[in-house]
Amino acid sequence: MKKTVLVSGGAGFIGSHVTVELIQAGYDVVVADNFSNCDRTCFEGVKRITGKEDIPLEVMDFCDMEAVKALFQKYPIDAVIHFAAYKAVGESVAQPLKYYKNNLTSFLNVLEAAQEKGSFVLFSSSATVYGEPDSVPVTEATPRKPATSPYGNTKTICEDILRDTVKASEGKLKGILLRYFNPIGAHPSALIGELPRGVPNNLVPFITQTAIGKRECLSIFGNDYPTPDGTCLRDYIDIVDLAKAHVFAVSRMVEGKMKQDCEVFNVGTGRPVSVLELVNAFEKVNGVKLNYKFAPRRAGDVTAIWADPTLANTEMGWKATRTVEETLKAAWAWEKHLAGK
Ligand code: UD1
Repeated sequence: MKKTVLVSGGAGFIGSHVTVELIQAGYDVVVADNFSNCDRTCFEGVKRITGKEDIPLEVMDFCDMEAVKALFQKYPIDAVIHFAAYKAVGESVAQPLKYYKNNLTSFLNVLEAAQEKGSFVLFSSSATVYGEPDSVPVTEATPRKPATSPYGNTKTICEDILRDTVKASEGKLKGILLRYFNPIGAHPSALIGELPRGVPNNLVPFITQTAIGKRECLSIFGNDYPTPDGTCLRDYIDIVDLAKAHVFAVSRMVEGKMKQDCEVFNVGTGRPVSVLELVNAFEKVNGVKLNYKFAPRRAGDVTAIWADPTLANTEMGWKATRTVEETLKAAWAWEKHLAGK
């Protein structure tokens, strides 16, 4: 019997890549999205990549409990992956209520419906929960730090909500928290990728938009950090590798392979890369010259964080496989695809 996975926020950057991998792994997928922060480009791309024209799409808001209940009644949902959330760090500082209201309400609604239905829950958490870690790489046992933004705080709070709810359910509700490091890149088909609205906050979309001529100059925020080249270190994880981690996590849940009722895994490569190294790699692998300058540090940035992915490697059997170069090639191909080049 095919299992059905609901992907909330399934038309967005991570959601669309996860939908592709789930369909290709043989799952039935229901995509639900309110298109508040994306258009239909990626959903159409998912259909083309998978050759599946009839992927169920529900246009709805997860803050609407009646709609969430109706959704869980309409489909036989074995597991739900929850992506539907606001994600701009700076905006969350300016508008905390918008973030707390949306990101917490939608997750509470999903949890309540999943608990009633007996569906597994996978929550998209973030390395942001580790803050500025005392030592790197970080394992799942590394203590969390107070969040530096309301966005980050919603991740920490949702982790706690899932944990508490699972505990109180006495085995009826089970879930997995995946802590993503820095997802970058695009599908190798160049049919889906990141589509930021307005000026990108994240590094790689800013790089590709500068390379294509949409932005004049990339600012590298800070070159006086205590790192080998003075720029920040991150764990950049290929979006397709990241998406595949979800397939491993879902099969772990629905095939009864979980060892605890609430499990947590880092989803990273274990490889630190500096901002400058990433910029240089982009130029080299794509044969383009990038206009960049050094600028002051950005408020809230941590100096260095990367994953120890051993637990995901050994327990889930998942491992990141793509090189930074392959990923940056895919990111560039996607930007060119968007520009019609
Ligand atoms: C941020 C969020 C993280 C979220 C992730 C999504 C925090 C502290 N960080 O991570 O929770 O999951 O985005 O991908 O909440 N940089 C530049 N110039 C730019 C843009 C970025 O130099 O124009 C640098 C940054 O200073 C940083 C690195 O590039 O050192 C990566 O930045 P970014 O892509 O924004 O990701 P994070 O801040 O690590």
